[in-house]
Amino acid sequence: MTSRLRHLLLIYGLAVAAVARPSVGAADDLENDTPKKIPENEVTTSSRCNPPEMNLAGNRAVATDFLGVTEVKFAGAIGPLGDRRLCKIKCIDGEWVGPLCQVKDDGGRFHPLLRSCHFKALPPQLLVTYQNVSIATDSRKVFPHGVEVLVRCRETGLFKLLGDSVLECQNGVWSHPLPICIPTTLLTNFSEESPPTILIKVPTGSSAVEPRGELAVFPGSIIHLECAFTRKLGNPEWTWTSKFREHMTGWAMSAEERDWKYRLSIYYSKPQDSGEFTCTTPIGTSNSITINVKAVLCPPLEVSDPHATARVEGSRLGHTAVFHCPTGYFLNGTANLSCEATGKWSSAPPKCLPVQCPQINPVDPRLAVENTNRSYGGRVTFSCPWGYKLTGPPNLECQSTGRWSGKVPQCQAVHCPPPQPLPNGRILETGGQALSDGRYSVGSAVQFGCAESYQLMGEPTIVCTERGFWSHSLPFCKPRCSYPGDPVNGHIAPIKFYYEPGDHVKVTCNPGFVVRERTATSRPTCRPDGSWSEKMPTCVDYSEV
Ligand SMILES: *[C@@H]1O[C@H](CO)[C@@H](O)[C@H](O)[C@H]1NC(C)=O
Ligand SMILES: *[C@@H]1O[C@H](CO)[C@@H](O)[C@H](O)[C@H]1NC(C)=O
Ligand SMILES: *[C@@H]1O[C@H](CO)[C@@H](O)[C@H](O)[C@H]1NC(C)=O
Ligand SMILES: *[C@@H]1O[C@H](CO)[C@@H](O)[C@H](O)[C@H]1NC(C)=O
Ligand SMILES: *[C@@H]1O[C@H](CO)[C@@H](O)[C@H](O)[C@H]1NC(C)=O
Repeated sequence: MTSRLRHLLLIYGLAVAAVARPSVGAADDLENDTPKKIPENEVTTSSRCNPPEMNLAGNRAVATDFLGVTEVKFAGAIGPLGDRRLCKIKCIDGEWVGPLCQVKDDGGRFHPLLRSCHFKALPPQLLVTYQNVSIATDSRKVFPHGVEVLVRCRETGLFKLLGDSVLECQNGVWSHPLPICIPTTLLTNFSEESPPTILIKVPTGSSAVEPRGELAVFPGSIIHLECAFTRKLGNPEWTWTSKFREHMTGWAMSAEERDWKYRLSIYYSKPQDSGEFTCTTPIGTSNSITINVKAVLCPPLEVSDPHATARVEGSRLGHTAVFHCPTGYFLNGTANLSCEATGKWSSAPPKCLPVQCPQINPVDPRLAVENTNRSYGGRVTFSCPWGYKLTGPPNLECQSTGRWSGKVPQCQAVHCPPPQPLPNGRILETGGQALSDGRYSVGSAVQFGCAESYQLMGEPTIVCTERGFWSHSLPFCKPRCSYPGDPVNGHIAPIKFYYEPGDHVKVTCNPGFVVRERTATSRPTCRPDGSWSEKMPTCVDYSEV
């Protein structure tokens, strides 16, 4: 909707619940409101309005043809409880004007909405009731013009309400200033300026606090009102407005209460006992409680939910019912109900709904989620593609709390550690990219080679496996001597491609030739470093020696 319109609806505390067809002219009934085309010439261009875009729970409901439309009707939701009223806006001189809403008592005629009220800063002790419903107020809750709210202090008797408990919204302004809750003696360590606390005890019977802070009591109940005051400062006085009968007053008997509780007792209360009870201290501070004795009964509670169990005290005023759900079910609604002074239960009986764990929305697109069973005791299974591993267990279980037994895992790439450097050798080739930190991803192959005069022992190629280990242990380079070649006119034995350290060769010269070097052995040995212990002997002509 246009920003001006949005602003208007905000001021009047109106939410658009449904939009009727745009229509021409005023009509009193939405159902009979058929759109009529009016001749083009009757609507001058300058007097047309832009389409009012009304937002309905996120969906834009916009009429397509606003040519000649002068009025849009919609179901407005007014106030914190969303009461429905038929409302409309009108196009006047190219501007949407309104909203105007139907007033029940006035033959369905439309009236401009007057401004709504809200509470700027509500002290935490104040409790607001609207149409017998306690309203969790914040500064955004708006109350339409003409409505009445009741205000009380949260803890009756522990605070004294100063001011009027009935506030009416009058065109954006409350009829009275917000009342104040004054803390009483129990909250102020019996400070002398504080009004006395009144503690309410109902040892027999039942009671409930009414929206104005009055105490509704079922007939026949016993009520003790205890005025908390320091006894050594004198005796307080109880007074009451009912002329019906006298009540017993006096200091409490028990040792721990006798010095600070001045009691008034109403035995087997009768409707005629109703009235205001005031405790006035000798210092002149006072606090009051209004008691209404009335035989209020709530309808018997019907526990229709097959899974719910309820402990119902009864259905008299002040009686409570506590609901429980079995394991695997959660309580939807309020567990504790009480029979209120209005004759209604404080809320509808709750339901026991089967626990459902939340849908699993993995952040990791690689994570495969299977067999999701979101019921209590159900499981979900996770897996990762090849080359990745789960960061947590592969299963989660749906717990009775409606939460999964752990965090949804992610898929983490599997890596093999960088291979150790090969002494006297090196990496010849890698199939697969080494990461910047030297690790390898799954499937990477590394091939090793040895330096000259070393022989590779073991597997020359190792592969990074899915478990993050290399397929084989690292090969090693063993020193070796290479075949030195036969001398001219002779030969060496044994003949091998390579000789191991410790191996030796013997040179034998052809007939008529002798080994030139007459060294001790003339048997060169392969040394541990891969070199021959001596130069290979050569064969020379016998005659030349
Ligand atoms: C009351 O007295 C207690 C202990 O002496 C102290 O901690 C507390 O702050 C007092 N409260 C007030 C409201 O003075
Ligand atoms: C509980 O019940 C209310 C209506 O009574 C419903 O709007 C809400 O979605 C329910 N909550 C769950 C979690 O089912
Ligand atoms: C409901 O009542 C029980 C006992 O009557 C109490 O222990 C519990 O705290 C109450 N729960 C709520 C949410 O008021
Ligand atoms: C609130 O409760 C009283 C009875 O205590 C009743 O007379 C009145 O009609 C109720 N108001 C609403 C709006 O339900
Ligand atoms: C889900 O798990 C629960 C508890 O283990 C089981 O009773 C139920 O049959 C399962 N549902 C499906 C559709 O497998």
